[in-house]
Amino acid sequence: MDHMNEVHPDIAEILISAEEIEDKVAELAKTLTEAYRGRDLLLVGVLKGAFMFMADLARSIQLPTEFDFMAVSSYGSSTKSSGVVRILKDLDYEITGKHVLLVEDIIDSGLTISYLLRYLEAREPASLEICSLFWKKGQQAVPLNVRYPGFEIPPVFVVGYGLDYAERYRNLPYIGVLKPAAYTADPS
Ligand code: IMP
Ligand code: MG
Repeated sequence: MDHMNEVHPDIAEILISAEEIEDKVAELAKTLTEAYRGRDLLLVGVLKGAFMFMADLARSIQLPTEFDFMAVSSYGSSTKSSGVVRILKDLDYEITGKHVLLVEDIIDSGLTISYLLRYLEAREPASLEICSLFWKKGQQAVPLNVRYPGFEIPPVFVVGYGLDYAERYRNLPYIGVLKPAAYTADPS
């Protein structure tokens, strides 16, 4: 299994290690366990990017928890948010009267999450908060209140721990920056 410890050849630099992510996820889960004690928590994950974070976070939250997922598309295969959010998969259940925690992988322009907030708010949850593992410093085009933030990262395109470039690299256990050549290569 030695090869598992090697850095992927397309990665120029590891920004946040698997261990650092693990520690942060544990810290967030502890905060959430305190914050939601006595309330029924519904985690809404934003697919696909948040799947890994959601799975790790949920395992460490020491409360009864329900799950739902939405799938949205905001980037296509480009590395810049278009601001146009398409809902590819809606919630399975109503969220009216529920304590909803929106679990997101990364906030860049903030356009995706603010669209989702407005969309979910209209369904009248008892409460609605955001937990995002990463957010890019100084990139937000809209004011956002991220109640449960993880890491602030520089405004560079990153992959790993659920995050992709053209559907690749999601399974890397760390967050890394791609080598320029990885963008120019045809991903298909
Ligand atoms: P925003 O709408 O600009 O905030 O972009 C948010 C969405 O774009 C996230 O849910 C991610 O799926 C994706 N995204 C933003 N930045 C990155 C990145 O650096 N790498 C991979 N995906 C990203
Ligand atoms: Mg994505």
